[in-house]
Amino acid sequence: MRPYPARTHYAGRLRPAEISSHVSFNGWVASRRDLGGLIFIDLRDHTGIVQLVFSPQHAPDLMERAGDLRSEYVIAVTGEVRRRENPNHFIPTGEVEVYCTELVILNRSETPPFEIGKRGQVGEELRLKYRYLDLRDAEMQRILRLRSQVYGITHQYFAENGFVEIETPMLVRSTPEGARDYLVPSRVHPGKFYALPQSPQIYKQLLMVAGYDRYMQIAKCMRDEDLRADRQPEFTQLDLEMAFVEQEDVLQLIEGYLVRIWKEVKGVDLQLPLLRMPYHEAMSRYGTDKPDIRFDVELQDVADLFGSTGFSVFKGTLESGGAIAGIRVSGGAAYSRKQIDDLTEVAKRYGAKGLVWLKLTADDMEGGSAKFFSNEEKDGMRERFSADEGDLLLIVADEWRTCHIALGALRLDIARREKLIPENTDAPLFVIDFPMFEMDQETGTITPAHHPFTSYKREDEGFLETDPLRVRANAYDLVINGYELASGSIRIHDRETQAKIFSYIGLSDEEAQKKFGFLLEAFRYGAPPHGGIAPGIDRLIMVLAGTDNIRDVIAFPKTASAASLMDEAPSPLANEQLKPLHIQLREE
Ligand code: AMO
Repeated sequence: MRPYPARTHYAGRLRPAEISSHVSFNGWVASRRDLGGLIFIDLRDHTGIVQLVFSPQHAPDLMERAGDLRSEYVIAVTGEVRRRENPNHFIPTGEVEVYCTELVILNRSETPPFEIGKRGQVGEELRLKYRYLDLRDAEMQRILRLRSQVYGITHQYFAENGFVEIETPMLVRSTPEGARDYLVPSRVHPGKFYALPQSPQIYKQLLMVAGYDRYMQIAKCMRDEDLRADRQPEFTQLDLEMAFVEQEDVLQLIEGYLVRIWKEVKGVDLQLPLLRMPYHEAMSRYGTDKPDIRFDVELQDVADLFGSTGFSVFKGTLESGGAIAGIRVSGGAAYSRKQIDDLTEVAKRYGAKGLVWLKLTADDMEGGSAKFFSNEEKDGMRERFSADEGDLLLIVADEWRTCHIALGALRLDIARREKLIPENTDAPLFVIDFPMFEMDQETGTITPAHHPFTSYKREDEGFLETDPLRVRANAYDLVINGYELASGSIRIHDRETQAKIFSYIGLSDEEAQKKFGFLLEAFRYGAPPHGGIAPGIDRLIMVLAGTDNIRDVIAFPKTASAASLMDEAPSPLANEQLKPLHIQLREE
């Protein structure tokens, strides 16, 4: 026989239909109130809360034990369901309560370091230290269950579409992929190291060579990089690769996936096709390659208005081939000096040398630089920005990319200040036609903008020699609400092109052979054309759950300094552990 009553119902599911029946629950004490000789317990499980009552008339022998109950005690109870005299309309079980006739205390709890259900009032550090208590909270339960639901839909959708799920190794060869690798020393091979995969990129390409046609995996990826609100050192990708496909095939597959997810998780019908916006257009209009198009403030290019300007800053920018662009802040003329200084700081943080601001009056403009502009220039700006009295214009003159990135950051800052971003709307789009290469500002060398396995547009081949930064890649991102949710590309599938790209990015034949020899080798044996994409699952769940903190969607996340406060990883190792790994620590 069971030592305690097995549950007949979940706490959050009890309804008036059960009135008069005898029911049992297993769960945690959320709270206890003693009132007029009665003891009221809120009992919690993962479905919600139900009210238990202990009364001297019903169960005199239980009163003492019930009086001992404290928050987070684990209990099993049996009782009779009754209608509540004072219904609680805030919870789904608020019309009923259970008069208990049996109570078993299954475990006691120390006073928890914070009250479950009040996570909003508790510092994140404390919550991460006691993560198992934080995870008991209804909000975390909701998010992790949503995540599990998405996994279910994902497996179903990709199975229906002919994908085969294949696991790839966690101990791999270190290959440069952008970020720094996490390394694992080999005991058996002194002085040699495995790397943890930054993504299964090369393996999924090898699976295409191997003829698996459509591969999927919910894959853990590890990257030792600087963390941000949407980055973790250890994160999850929905990794996808397909043979014999073009860009449109991949994008349409993802469209179908998003439609399914949004319908099943949110009950929302996403409208297809999603917008496909070239990278250059995204940068020009929104100042970012991951535009948040839920609100429509856009950047305006105004360089043409200043062809014969007397304003030396603008003149200098144009002479050195730079850009002049700006945005309009509706009603922004009311901003204080402090607010404008804050905006200037934002622009500077993103690399701009300064910010020109102009407040529009009925028939003129005010602001530090207003006196430098001719009436013609002012009229031109008024018209270009469709600006009126009371508006504020923010203008940046700089090298093209810096100018647009700074304005893109201002655009978001203003959207937050002015609450321009509508809640409960999602705005997905594809950004396409990414540049193949970018300039590494630190080293002055050309690096692949996506990764070195990405193919380029044949029509841009001529620029490879003359102007490599103009070459466009067959690379695409899925962007939602300003997040880069997925990245992918059509790959190079022949040895010669791959070797050529390695040499462009400064990898000698020998280095390429050493680092990627096995891929080049595989390309000798009939590699099909192939391409893929990898949505970041954590970011997808962030968007679906409505949080802007990636740690909220991961059961056991790391802090911004890549530490786990609960188990205190990373931890020092004793010499006995290091020795067999042939590692000796240097005194710093
Ligand atoms: P990429 O490096 O762009 O592409 O990664 C794909 C997606 O993974 C998510 N992501 C992250 N999420 C949380 N924390 C991180 N540190 C992090 N880094 C990336 C993002 C991103 O869009 N192999 C290629 C994909 C391909 O070409 O198929 C790759 O890894 O949502």
